[in-house]
Amino acid sequence: MPSEQELVRAVWLLQNGGLVALPTETVYGLSANALDVAAVQRIYDVKGRPKTSPLIVHVASIEMARSLAREWPLEANILAGAFWPGPLTMVVKKRPVVPDLVTAGLDTVGLRMPAHPVMLEVIRRAQVPLAAPSANRFTEVSPTTAQHVYDSLGDAVDLILDGGPCRVGIESTVVSLAGEEPVLLRPGMISREDLERLLERPVRTVGDVEGAHPSPGLHHKHYSPRTPAVRVSDGKLPAGRVAYVWWRTPADAAVAIRMPDDVAGYARELYGALLEADRAGVDVIAVEATPTAAEWAAIEDRLRRALQ
Ligand code: TXA
Ligand code: MG
Repeated sequence: MPSEQELVRAVWLLQNGGLVALPTETVYGLSANALDVAAVQRIYDVKGRPKTSPLIVHVASIEMARSLAREWPLEANILAGAFWPGPLTMVVKKRPVVPDLVTAGLDTVGLRMPAHPVMLEVIRRAQVPLAAPSANRFTEVSPTTAQHVYDSLGDAVDLILDGGPCRVGIESTVVSLAGEEPVLLRPGMISREDLERLLERPVRTVGDVEGAHPSPGLHHKHYSPRTPAVRVSDGKLPAGRVAYVWWRTPADAAVAIRMPDDVAGYARELYGALLEADRAGVDVIAVEATPTAAEWAAIEDRLRRALQ
């Protein structure tokens, strides 16, 4: 955990236009004061991220969320009550105080209260909401340790706070509450079924909705290792030197990375495994197919994007 001096420095940097990589329970975030346009601009520059991708704004209280939202529907209160702090981002209509650069010109803003003591403490002390995408270069696999952040961004950030490995390991669920009906924009460990149970009505996915904004997290070629990566089953590996990410079927590979067999453990270790496989200098990464059950939907989503 970071020292008191590091916390003080992080807060000072964020209040003065700096960029600080902070741990959250999902992945590490590249944070800036969401209300400081020049600081937010640096996020896009450092990540190499197109301006058409809106950023999530992180808050430390529902009051802070409401200060950024023009409308705070009852359903936002229900979901915040159930899942905040936690891996859920809610898209709601924004107030003018939220810069257009943060929201890629949209009339809505994605809000999340992260469940990590370091990020929450920094937001409380800085007294500003933090815009934070995952702390990696655009299209790369998201970082789940401070070392991953350093490997991807190095000295391009002003400070990296080390809060240990991320407990959840894949990005938050993103749900839009800005329209007539709730829409799941990005699957995560809080499932569509969890949302439907709480809201007591169907939650559609982006694919189901006519003319909805595709969420830029659903961008083609996101979360990809540099090495070609394929999905395999029954331990049947491709030719060449292979890094094999497996969870059920062992096989003879140059590098073998075993995954936990429960979905939460799998999610926690997925990006670390892909980054390790990528660093191994093999010809191909082979990932054993995971179950098709609903609770694996978020894993399936990330693998589909990584494996192409
Ligand atoms: O777990 C997470 O969400 C991590 C940590 C750091 O909090 N952050 C993260 O940020 O994954 P990023 O920038 O990599 O992904 C942001 C996602 C994208 O899919 C984006 O489209 C969606 O949130 N998003 C943000 N604001 C939105 C808006 N106003 N409308 C639609 N989608 C939005
Ligand atoms: Mg990302």
